[in-house]
Amino acid sequence: MNLTRSAKRYLRLDFTLEDALPTRMPVYVNSVAYLFGATALMALAWIVISGVVLTLGGPSWYHTNAVGRFANAVHFWSVQLFFVGLVLHFVTKFFLGAWRDGRWLTWVVGGLLLGLGVFTSLTGFLLQTNWDGQWIATQAKDAMNAAGIGAFFNTMNTGQVLTLHVAALPLAIAALLGLHIFLIRRDSPVRPYDDRPNPANRAGAAKAGSGPAAAGAREAEFAGSGRRTRENLRGIPLKPYDLLREGLIVFVLAAVVALALAIFVGAPDYPTVTGENVATKQPIAYLKTTVGILLGNEDSALTGYGPPYQNDDSAAQHLGPIAPATWFGATRPIDPAQDLVLAPLARVAQINPAYTQPLAEFQAASPAQQQKWLAAYDKALGAATVSGDTVQLPAGDYGPVEAMMNGMLGLGRAGLLEGALAAEGNDFAPFSFDYTKQLSYFAVAPPYFDTATHLVQQGNPQWGIVHETGNYPGAWWLDGYQVWYEIPAIADADNADLLVVTIMLGFFALLLLLPVIPGLNRLPHGLKVYRVIWRDWYREHAEEGAQRRV
Ligand code: HEM
Repeated sequence: MNLTRSAKRYLRLDFTLEDALPTRMPVYVNSVAYLFGATALMALAWIVISGVVLTLGGPSWYHTNAVGRFANAVHFWSVQLFFVGLVLHFVTKFFLGAWRDGRWLTWVVGGLLLGLGVFTSLTGFLLQTNWDGQWIATQAKDAMNAAGIGAFFNTMNTGQVLTLHVAALPLAIAALLGLHIFLIRRDSPVRPYDDRPNPANRAGAAKAGSGPAAAGAREAEFAGSGRRTRENLRGIPLKPYDLLREGLIVFVLAAVVALALAIFVGAPDYPTVTGENVATKQPIAYLKTTVGILLGNEDSALTGYGPPYQNDDSAAQHLGPIAPATWFGATRPIDPAQDLVLAPLARVAQINPAYTQPLAEFQAASPAQQQKWLAAYDKALGAATVSGDTVQLPAGDYGPVEAMMNGMLGLGRAGLLEGALAAEGNDFAPFSFDYTKQLSYFAVAPPYFDTATHLVQQGNPQWGIVHETGNYPGAWWLDGYQVWYEIPAIADADNADLLVVTIMLGFFALLLLLPVIPGLNRLPHGLKVYRVIWRDWYREHAEEGAQRRV
């Protein structure tokens, strides 16, 4: 078989230059609904343009430089516009039953684009590399881990997130989008309901004919188009059309919207919660978090978590016998007490030998003795007072723990906590972009939630990953995901994340399979919303089309 010859034959018969760059459209393409796909496409173009600028400068640039902030804002608003266009596009294509007449693949590819778009936006929100990014990274990791994806994708590894967001995912989107657009142009816009090409009619028309002259006229009408377009549009009047002009107009309009919003509204940028600001502003919360990690408190950073951090499968979320988190084991092992507290403290001791002895005393003590000191210190923190730089505790037997905690507090106040955490157990420390330890240190601690509460009190609901700080729209397209957490039976379940991920994957599968699900694939016909979108057609051309066909 000669592949080149087959490809040429396919292109000659099914996909011509007139299909790729049409100068005529069927008359039923006469609604603003046909511009939603183009809106998503052109917003995507602006996402790419502003994204390239952001990538060239890098995160520290787009947070501090005026041009960088502006590019960031253009990117932010282009994404909002993209999702407005995409959601409207998806909804209208549903109401038109646009998967009919062999367009199921166009629909499936569109669905995959929707899924990829949402995932890409998640990686983008992480790259805000500010408080929102920090919050979303620590919240979203639970869903990833529960679904087993956490073994491969770490929301707190900025290097991985960056590569995915600026290279791998855009390339996948570009490939799928190329296929989507190729299929759309090859097949031409789906015909209105009740007026679809009926093979029996077409065969009848061909046999009975209306005379060679009429047949000739019909062929002339479609001259230049491929076989699939000719079959789809048989009997449909065409009107003049300029694809490139329309695309250019939408491109400019998308720019006007994104640029205006970027100039007049800007983009959210609430600073991160760092070890330094917690140690300085909330030293007791800092100490409570740190001692909680040593105590192995269930609600401390990554303690009692299970895979991918620890080999404790019983801590993994499961749905009946299925626990995806356990499938790949502890791919990113962390020993919280050692990696987050004792090892950084050993570095403190290298700089200040006064901490060597307390650390040695603690490590030489029995686990029972350690727990006793830690528990006494933890309890005493409830009655602690802060004066100047020091935290005063009531008298008690804390062994070496008080000195150790003061060492950790000093590390935080000096702004060195994150550096000490990065260095630990990582041979590639200077090159590491994995911020799992730094980001999760305060993830379940009061200072973190205090910041969230503070933002809520300002009228900016912050829970979950769908909201932004300030009065900015967040990832509202994830509301359908987030809403499940509003149901107490789900939110309070031990396997809440796995439940929600499973529900959403179920809906996504339903969406992809819609064209072949009996009953559901006829839903748009029953709903009759298409009569509004194609109202001109039904008013003026339906009868004419029907007569011409038979
Ligand atoms: C990156 C996201 C997407 C972009 C940029 C995009 C773009 C487009 C464009 C420009 C068109 C032609 C104009 C039109 O009919 O509106 C189109 C058609 C179409 N799209 Fe999308 N689309 C995307 C996602 C989706 C999704 C999520 C679905 C549904 C699951 C979908 C289903 C379809 C279908 C079925 C058609 C053919 C319509 C027809 O034959 O009349 N697309 N798309």
